[in-house]
Amino acid sequence: MVKQLPAKVEITEVGPRDGFQNVKTFIPTADKVAIIEGLIAAGLKKFELTSFVSPKAIPQLADAAEVCRTILAKYGDQIQGSALVPNLRGAQSAWDAGIREVACVISVSASHNRANINRTHDESLADLAKMIESLPGMTVRVDLATAFACPFEGWTSLDAVGILAEKIQKLGVTKIVLADTIGVATPDRVHALSAYMRQRFPKIDLALHLHDTRGMGLSNTLAGLMAGITTFETSIAGLGGCPFAPGAAGNTATEDMVNMLRDMNIATGVSREKLIDVVALVGEKVDAPINSHLAKAKLYECLN
Ligand code: COA
Ligand code: ZN
Repeated sequence: MVKQLPAKVEITEVGPRDGFQNVKTFIPTADKVAIIEGLIAAGLKKFELTSFVSPKAIPQLADAAEVCRTILAKYGDQIQGSALVPNLRGAQSAWDAGIREVACVISVSASHNRANINRTHDESLADLAKMIESLPGMTVRVDLATAFACPFEGWTSLDAVGILAEKIQKLGVTKIVLADTIGVATPDRVHALSAYMRQRFPKIDLALHLHDTRGMGLSNTLAGLMAGITTFETSIAGLGGCPFAPGAAGNTATEDMVNMLRDMNIATGVSREKLIDVVALVGEKVDAPINSHLAKAKLYECLN
């Protein structure tokens, strides 16, 4: 076994947000709910259920409030459901729909922040401050998009992430997600940024969001684990991508992650077999390619 790995990993399922947002054909709300229910049955407890953004920017998630209300009414005591928001208005709508944790998205690169949410860093930070002040009962985490690289500006420096994270921490944020939005990071880069952030921000809860665009998802996960990160965001069936980042493709698939960790005796609380059932449901209901390895692989009974 690889040395010095944690005994347990927390997975946040982001398929219902990051995965669905990239699908053109509208997925009926009842089908979104059925997929989330399948994921809950598989043992997942942390979710990004949707995002409260402009329906003109992401028509697929126009039913955000309904999805949240339906899921939270039934499973609110079993799961932690969060939602992505770009601004105070989104955070307020999320609160009204019963959400108590939001992921406020800010890109480390100024040009992707502009392309994605039409804001400068100062404007995004001002919005973040307003969010924290206006909704004291809401946990506000920050998703740092383009933390490794930007499709317009190239590689992101460690310092650029550190300088922005410093400002975010000063506002009172205690959770930061480092996202490889276009999936170009490699294990060295993931290890370097994770170690740098852990050292510079020992009080911040860090998570990794690693896209598998170039097939590096699981290797990058291992690099993150070796640097001491224990929370990862993944997406069922490897769905995902950012409509405002050209060339962005799927996330690391939840089932691939669970398959790897299971054999390494790292607990996730999630059933690989039940995830496979959800992948079948995704194949039926979602007009998008299934990107995971496990979905195409044979599960040998003699290898259980
Ligand atoms: N929820 C719903 N609608 C919203 C909203 C929110 N959180 N924030 C703004 N809007 C609406 C406004 O009412 C306005 O609608 P109108 O055109 O019908 O009048 C429209 O969106 C534009 O509002 P404005 O404040 O001028 O924002 P903008 O044009 O600068 O767009 C965002 C900014 C953030 C709203 C928009 O870029 C967005 O929603 N981006 C989503 C990005 C995303 O989800 N990316 C993928 C995930 S990382
Ligand atoms: Zn993503």
